[in-house]
Amino acid sequence: MKNSIETLQQEIGAFAIENADDLEAFRLRFMVRKGSIAELFNLLKDAPSSERPVYGQLLNQLKQAAEKKYDVAKKSIEAVTSGRRKQQVDLTLPGRNEYQGSEHPVQKTLGDMKQIFRAMGFAIATGPELERDSYNFDMLNFPANHPARDMQDTFFVTLNEDEDNLLLRTHTSPVQIRVMLEEKPPIRVICPGKVYRNEAISARSYCVFHQLEGLYIDKNVSFADLKATIYSFAKQMFGSNVQLRFRPSFFPFTEPSAEVDVTCYLCGGKGCRVCKQSGWLEILGCGMVHPNVLRNCSIDPDEFSGFAFGMGVDRTALLRYKIDDIRLLFENDVRMLEQFSQ
Ligand code: PHE
Repeated sequence: MKNSIETLQQEIGAFAIENADDLEAFRLRFMVRKGSIAELFNLLKDAPSSERPVYGQLLNQLKQAAEKKYDVAKKSIEAVTSGRRKQQVDLTLPGRNEYQGSEHPVQKTLGDMKQIFRAMGFAIATGPELERDSYNFDMLNFPANHPARDMQDTFFVTLNEDEDNLLLRTHTSPVQIRVMLEEKPPIRVICPGKVYRNEAISARSYCVFHQLEGLYIDKNVSFADLKATIYSFAKQMFGSNVQLRFRPSFFPFTEPSAEVDVTCYLCGGKGCRVCKQSGWLEILGCGMVHPNVLRNCSIDPDEFSGFAFGMGVDRTALLRYKIDDIRLLFENDVRMLEQFSQ
């Protein structure tokens, strides 16, 4: 018995506890109910009764020594791990910025435009980018030999003599046709979307860009309504001090037609590099919907009238965010997009 106690004492003394795993191994080996110390306590009853008190005392000392060793080791291991945890968090370091992605400048600009028209009661209508020739041109009153149909401007997808060809829409105006064929007046919609033109690519023009078109048809809609709508939009979009200039123009699907300029919102109209010292920036084309277009969609021009307008989104985005090359908007270079995250 004495030998066993001494052996165990040495074993306990020699047991190296360096980490939490060692600590647990120590506990399982010596301190649990079936551990080595408890086993010796069990043997105590077989010892001669005269020796029992001595062994009992030795065993109790051994048990206490083991518990002490355990407690001391546990405390120092805990101190090490919590110290390490503290060291890992350096509160003086600057915070790490997670890049969260951001809205593309074109989508931001388009979003603002949509918001303004929505508040005026315009619903949003969309149509396909792959469009019928007839909706993109014929129904919009383009004469058969109009130069805009020229291969230089239009990406044709199918080309047959007698059938309705498919093309990449060159403007969002075919959505007007789609809406008028489906709905009866009053109609009040905006049509945002991508359009395609086969143009020479440069810093100022690209083969794809975004337009936002508007259409309003009801009884007694006049040019004054068109002007008021555009004016209200321009003030909200470009600032309450902007002035407008309507210049007579031509579109096959509107009569009369106009192009609209706003006082340059970069220099306030004084003249700068962007407005080429003119003080004006062109923002959109517009006009009263041509009676032929209404007729093409079975709307009686004697009963109803309407206006339409169409504006480019990308150029406004470029000016707003001071981007000097339209191609940057379509390259999907994350370094460019990162500059517009909030
Ligand atoms: N669709 C014309 C364009 O692409 C713009 C426009 C729309 C003009 C509606 C008048 C009315 O240039």
